[in-house]
Amino acid sequence: MKLGVGLPLLASLLSNSIPVRATSNSSIAQWLYTSDIDDEALTLLERPEIQGVQSLYTWKSLEPQRDQYDFSAIANDLTRTQSRGKHLWVQIQDRTFSNANNPVPKYLHRPIYNNGSVPQCDGDDCDNNFVPGGWATAQWNPYVRERFQRLLKAMAHAFDDKVYGFNLPETAIEVQSNNASGYTCQKYFEGTLDNARYAASVFNHSYVVQYVNFWPCGWANENNYLSDSFAFFAANGVGVGGPDDIPYKQTMENNAYPYMSQYRDQVPINVVAVQEPDLAAINPKTGEQFTRDEFLDFAEKQLGSRILFWALSAPWLH
Ligand SMILES: *[C@@H]1O[C@H](CO)[C@@H](O)[C@H](O)[C@H]1NC(C)=O
Ligand SMILES: *[C@@H]1O[C@H](CO)[C@@H](O)[C@H](O)[C@H]1NC(C)=O
Ligand SMILES: *[C@@H]1O[C@H](CO)[C@@H](O)[C@H](O)[C@H]1NC(C)=O
Ligand SMILES: *[C@@H]1O[C@H](CO)[C@@H](O)[C@H](O)[C@H]1NC(C)=O
Repeated sequence: MKLGVGLPLLASLLSNSIPVRATSNSSIAQWLYTSDIDDEALTLLERPEIQGVQSLYTWKSLEPQRDQYDFSAIANDLTRTQSRGKHLWVQIQDRTFSNANNPVPKYLHRPIYNNGSVPQCDGDDCDNNFVPGGWATAQWNPYVRERFQRLLKAMAHAFDDKVYGFNLPETAIEVQSNNASGYTCQKYFEGTLDNARYAASVFNHSYVVQYVNFWPCGWANENNYLSDSFAFFAANGVGVGGPDDIPYKQTMENNAYPYMSQYRDQVPINVVAVQEPDLAAINPKTGEQFTRDEFLDFAEKQLGSRILFWALSAPWLH
């Protein structure tokens, strides 16, 4: 099946740096973002200005038993979106923000995999007060990556050219460095890049995107993690994106935003989401919440994004 407008270019994924840029004054595409394609999402998908929907799928749900993949949820969502003339985008969720919800299959709960995932802190002072609030997949462990990349390959065989794009979640993470977890900033950095490179190598048609917001041990380009990672994505045909479109937000400006802008024409695609918390952000210039046009304008002109994924609760959708 061939994709419609904005067909990903095969060449851009295979070559190092063929820029794929939006035509001069084409406007940014508007999609939905949802953890789950429910009735509300399907209704909003009917709107003519909405071109598709990004949804989340955990590793555990996609590989319930070792080497037994279950892609029925994606296949079903693909049918439901395509029957409405819309596109599907898949976020492969390898972390959670709930202690009760571990994202990895049970077979990974072994020491060789560092249990597959380790607790992630959800708090304001994780260095001094580590309060677990979810799980992060131990992608710094090469045995875990080998299993994860096998999943990516199986997904490519099932959905390359059918699903419009795939993304790996944000780079921000808060886990403890200790001998049990095996985690270090550098191993996490290298593991994340390795997965992104691998994903781009197995999908010949669908876009592949790595979300980048903050790197641990990489604040404001410490250790060159921001500059090195964006250069790596450009060199390896990996698109870039971010979970939060918050115009001129200082912490973002100090981190991924300038690189998204700088690399907009050197990566296959650049995308961004307006997730629920972003909707509440206040525009310092107006003292009001950002408007639909302000979000869109910033994403398109400042970040260089070609798709904006809207949380279903965006006021303009209702
Ligand atoms: C698009 O480009 C054309 C030609 O450069 C220009 O006349 C038109 O105003 C532009 N439209 C927008 C919406 O920027
Ligand atoms: C991508 O292309 C290569 C080379 O033609 C091929 O071996 C591989 O199976 C293709 N992958 C998919 C997912 O179709
Ligand atoms: C961690 O491992 C290193 C070497 O493998 C060892 O020297 C060190 O004592 C260990 N630390 C802890 C807290 O177990
Ligand atoms: C792995 O799980 C075991 C059993 O629940 C636990 O004792 C151990 O601390 C875990 N290791 C890590 C790295 O979380």
